[in-house]
Amino acid sequence: MTSEQETLQTLAAQISQCTLCALHQGRIRAVPGEGPADAELMLIGEGPGYHENRQGRPFVGPSGQFLDELLATARLRRQDVFIANVVKCRPPDNRDPLPNEVDTCTSTYLHKQIELIDPKVIVTLGRYSMALFFPKEKISKIHGQPRRIGGRLIVPMIHPAAALHQPKNRALIEEDFRRLPEFLARAEHAASQPESPADDESPAAEQLSMF
Ligand code: URA
Repeated sequence: MTSEQETLQTLAAQISQCTLCALHQGRIRAVPGEGPADAELMLIGEGPGYHENRQGRPFVGPSGQFLDELLATARLRRQDVFIANVVKCRPPDNRDPLPNEVDTCTSTYLHKQIELIDPKVIVTLGRYSMALFFPKEKISKIHGQPRRIGGRLIVPMIHPAAALHQPKNRALIEEDFRRLPEFLARAEHAASQPESPADDESPAAEQLSMF
């Protein structure tokens, strides 16, 4: 086992016992996330729902089935990507996670997962995940537009649950996922480029013109 795999497992064990915010009170199981420690692509959802809370695994309910279909359109398999969430415990009644819950969970766990996996591409699913990278943007405006931050591409996408039963959003997310292979291919290129200081300072200005 590599040291990254080991550290991810240690983090997962900590997450399953975590009591750092109030969300732990209502959980059945925490959902640390899963996938290879060396995944090139990481998907970040919002937080566990009803099914995930029961199974301790990300995206296993209806939106997870849809996510598998979306991955297939990009010729990707679930077992090849790392799937995580902004918060690791289910917010009661699927309410939105609160700012202190997001801050605590991401600073303790998600950022470490990103650092360890070091993916070439991160797809954010939904507003809360997008806001970690682009706090002032609107998903309706920037979905499907990759931007480079710190040598990797971040691609904001609509949340699968918001697209599942809405034909307009469904068409948009399907189109965005179909372009993922292209983004992954280009990300290799982007990661090997010297970084310009502008990358981190103004991500909004860094939308890649080549896309
Ligand atoms: N929705 C999410 O955002 N994450 C999951 O794991 C499941 C549903």
